[in-house]
Amino acid sequence: MSTETQLFSPLTLRGVTLPNRIVLSPLCMYSGKDGVANDFHFAHLSTFARGRVGLIFAEATAVEPRGRITPRCLGIWNDEQVEAFKPITAFIEEMGSVPGIQLAHAGRKASSHTPWMGGKPITAENALPGEELWPIVGPSATPVADGFQTPHQLTTEEIADLVDAFATAAKRSLEAGFKVIELHGAHGYLMHSFLSPLANTRNDEYGGDIHGRMRFPLEVAAAVRAVLPDEVPLFFRISAVDGPAEGWSIDDSVTLSKELAALGVDVVDCSSGGIAGAPRFRISDDGKPLGSPLDRGLGFQVPYAEQVRNETDIKTMAVGVIVDPQQAEDILVDGRADLIALGRELMYNPFWSLHAAQALGEDPDFKMWPDQYSWAVFRRAQLADFKDTRMA
Ligand SMILES: Cc1cc2nc3c(=O)[nH]c(=O)nc-3n(C[C@H](O)[C@H](O)[C@H](O)COP(=O)(O)O)c2cc1C
Repeated sequence: MSTETQLFSPLTLRGVTLPNRIVLSPLCMYSGKDGVANDFHFAHLSTFARGRVGLIFAEATAVEPRGRITPRCLGIWNDEQVEAFKPITAFIEEMGSVPGIQLAHAGRKASSHTPWMGGKPITAENALPGEELWPIVGPSATPVADGFQTPHQLTTEEIADLVDAFATAAKRSLEAGFKVIELHGAHGYLMHSFLSPLANTRNDEYGGDIHGRMRFPLEVAAAVRAVLPDEVPLFFRISAVDGPAEGWSIDDSVTLSKELAALGVDVVDCSSGGIAGAPRFRISDDGKPLGSPLDRGLGFQVPYAEQVRNETDIKTMAVGVIVDPQQAEDILVDGRADLIALGRELMYNPFWSLHAAQALGEDPDFKMWPDQYSWAVFRRAQLADFKDTRMA
């Protein structure tokens, strides 16, 4: 007998019904060429569809070439890039999952090496063969940290062009078969850098108080919403806090979320950090993660999803060190978030959802598995003296 869990209950957002509450958080694979997805991306994302992840986000995908984090990041500014996504989105849908895409601009963190090459900014000296640095942009001419390029401070005309670039990328995303769009407003990339007083020191209408600093991200959200049909859900990922007290705060996030809700954004995806110093997933020369000052324990960002959800009318997605099925279920049951995104846990165990369904008693007969696997894993479980304790 199956139980009825929140984790495996569907969620309808506008015209799209997610089969469950489990989401693949956007994960840069740094494996494209000229921004075009390839077999690696198909293999990577299709695995989660076989694993019954309800909503599968393709990685941060740049809306223009300057907006890539690394030379190997994906983009969606041309037709070739759109075509390359089509088999991926078709397969995800065929498996009953929903394909989503995260639209991004890396801003002053662009032109960097991949994490496994140290994640540092590309320079003329450290550029790999065939790769070169490119000029970067930001709200102000302040580098992220020592060793980073100084960005060109965007003019108001250039900001308007970028708003258009996001809207065009959203239209292209629909053509590529994506059914949900997320805007990347977190981790120190372009939109976050406009929001944060630690990065945005402009004194025109795009800077100053919170309303000025929110102007560009809100213009992007409005422009993207305007090109999306009503039935397409729009998510917005925030860094709910910068970390330092003088930075962007959770109260600022509540203010922003209210504005986003008013513009027709459906879900705020609550991440954190990344405004200063190292990108969050960069590793140091001795292989240790370089991060923000935030503590990174189990579910450390859930309180942000909870507060935004409680203080606004918008739905939230929790993310960050959510690893255990019961932990995920409790977050939903306790009303702390509407969706659960997993990143590294799904990399570690791409069939996490299927294993979670077992652990929570949702799928005792392995019916949730794809037909090609279901009958066989059912028989596997019938084997005498067999007990799978790995996900208990
Ligand atoms: C390899 C890797 C790539 C990532 N790429 C992105 C990305 O493209 N966009 C984004 O918003 N966050 C990105 N993140 C952050 C994740 O989406 C997620 O928020 C983070 O890993 C915390 O969740 P977790 O503890 O379940 O991994 C990345 C994280 C990792 C480990």
